[in-house]
Amino acid sequence: MTDEVEVGATAELRPGTIHPAGRYAVGNTGEERFAVTRRCRHLGADLADGSIDDDGCLVCPWHGATYDVASGRMTRGPQGIFAKIPGLGAGFKLLTRILPLGRGEVVERDGTTFVR
Ligand code: FES
Repeated sequence: MTDEVEVGATAELRPGTIHPAGRYAVGNTGEERFAVTRRCRHLGADLADGSIDDDGCLVCPWHGATYDVASGRMTRGPQGIFAKIPGLGAGFKLLTRILPLGRGEVVERDGTTFVR
């Protein structure tokens, strides 16, 4: 049997929101619901505290790295002071080609959303 974690009422998973559920950050881009593992590959920020940008990417709450929620790959490296370090963003993007964020499956039953 697959482990499932309850996210909450499906009505609460509105576009632009992200919710913590076990090891996953579960969100709604407005186009799709997604679940990715919560720890940013940069310095481990909780991605459930992040946001969703206009492109539907998940934005890290600490230094603004962005992730493609379908592939788990970083699409923009850490911003701020980290953006000034040559090769850092490219390095993390390469890292997540090899070690993307884990992805979970989002399912709904009877008005409740779960991730597994
Ligand atoms: S911890 Fe996520 S970008 Fe730094």
